[in-house]
Amino acid sequence: MLPCPSFQARRARLVEGPELQPIQANGAILPMIRIVHFTDTHLDASPELRTRREADLANHVDAINALEQQPDLVIFTGDMANTGQSEEYAIARQHLNRLHSRWVFVPGNRDSRRCIRETFGDLGFLPMERDAPLDFAVEVGPLTFIGFDSKGQGTNKGAAPGERLAALRAMLEAVDGRPAIVSMHHPPFELHEIPWPRQFEDWAEAEAMNELIAGFDNVKLVACGHAHRRIAGEVGGKPAWTMLCAASDLRKGPAKDLGADVALQVYEFSDDGDLRNTEMLVLPVDGDAAAQTATQAAE
Ligand SMILES: [Fe+2]
Repeated sequence: MLPCPSFQARRARLVEGPELQPIQANGAILPMIRIVHFTDTHLDASPELRTRREADLANHVDAINALEQQPDLVIFTGDMANTGQSEEYAIARQHLNRLHSRWVFVPGNRDSRRCIRETFGDLGFLPMERDAPLDFAVEVGPLTFIGFDSKGQGTNKGAAPGERLAALRAMLEAVDGRPAIVSMHHPPFELHEIPWPRQFEDWAEAEAMNELIAGFDNVKLVACGHAHRRIAGEVGGKPAWTMLCAASDLRKGPAKDLGADVALQVYEFSDDGDLRNTEMLVLPVDGDAAAQTATQAAE
């Protein structure tokens, strides 16, 4: 996937673990479904944080729109808002509306289900029953994207107690063997790169989720946020990733060196739904352009 000439793409190696390689058939690249993943904007309406966080989101949206080949789906894996206030979701909606591609998102621990329903309910993919977890499934080409609400109770960690795992199982069974992506904010795999590798309140729930997903050969990818780093892992033997945060002031580890650059994870699937390639695009942002975008958005 090539960005337009106004962006100079470079592929970053900011991850431990193997990168999948593109597979070619008879010298020709197979037809692809492309999904772009970004996460954790932590939008905040306070005077101290609004400008920078909003500029980071605006820059990510601009960069996705400038990609030469538009993605089939843009996915965002939670912590859209920093304090779960409606003003933060209004900022998000204003910019996400500008995406040329179809987009969906899962909630993070910072997010408010109520505000999300109020702000995004018209999009049609979210369950609207009061207090219901924000689980959903949408089709993208041969794939089904399953969004799972991993928000816990009272901590910033994830949760998947028995009834929630039953809900995930029901969604997986409904896919009926077609290739699927499972996405949730909290990674249900150990993040050895951080001081607290287990980001579920009860790790037995994460282990149970691994067992559940291991039973579905049609799951091709598990895509997560929360870690603010890009980390490769496995869930039930399937490739799993956390993506680093879009909020440039919250990036951790080697990604701190990126400054305010845009970082997008790109997944390419064959047209029969197999994951063929995973890479991160880093798109440098001109400092003046970033400041201008933020100023315009604040007006
Ligand atoms: Fe976050």
